[in-house]
Amino acid sequence: MLITFEGIDGCGKTTQIGLLSSYLRENGKEVLTLREPGGTEFSEKIRDLLLHSKDKLTAQSELFLFESARADLVEKIIKPELEKGTIVILDRFYDSTTAYQGYGRQIDLNVVNASNHLASKNLKPDITFFLDIPLELSYQRSNHRKLDKIEKSGDEFFTRVIDGYKKIAGEEPERIVNIDGTKPIGEIFKTIMDKMINLIY
Ligand code: TYD
Repeated sequence: MLITFEGIDGCGKTTQIGLLSSYLRENGKEVLTLREPGGTEFSEKIRDLLLHSKDKLTAQSELFLFESARADLVEKIIKPELEKGTIVILDRFYDSTTAYQGYGRQIDLNVVNASNHLASKNLKPDITFFLDIPLELSYQRSNHRKLDKIEKSGDEFFTRVIDGYKKIAGEEPERIVNIDGTKPIGEIFKTIMDKMINLIY
């Protein structure tokens, strides 16, 4: 089973992934948590280029780097683990590319979708949790942290990303659970568990 978490920085993905993976492990499930971009030696190198290199990247080269990191992770780790029956929990997957490179950087959505399909080998999450928070809260929560390259993209970019995520979630309501990320941690986790119970048991 493939579970993905989406949302802008500071939306609480990491906390919820920690809670969900602990719950599943305590209940005897084999769980692997991964983040994108990253997860293989090659993809971690690309992550470093994407988030920390001093060069200015074009939107297209950014898109291809994210897809390249994804293709490596899907082929080497995600597919084999899913075949073994592991529950794979991913911190970001192709919806991030649609939101950030498609809506955010304004690359043609058909191109982004085709690239996503190619890199993910048509793998589709069984369920996706989108934690929706306003931009101001994202800024507040990352107040004291050093921003990475993408996080420095500005208000207009992030407003497009947030609106993009809402559109993506609206188009696939059967897969994507849209959660108000401003709610307390326990309440969000309850919403996630309500959905998970149906899938697991
Ligand atoms: P990361 O630190 O993993 O995000 P978070 O702070 O949410 O844990 O950094 C990943 C950054 O890359 C994040 O700003 C979102 C961006 N990103 C894209 O622009 N496109 C993508 O396809 C992916 C996977 C991430």
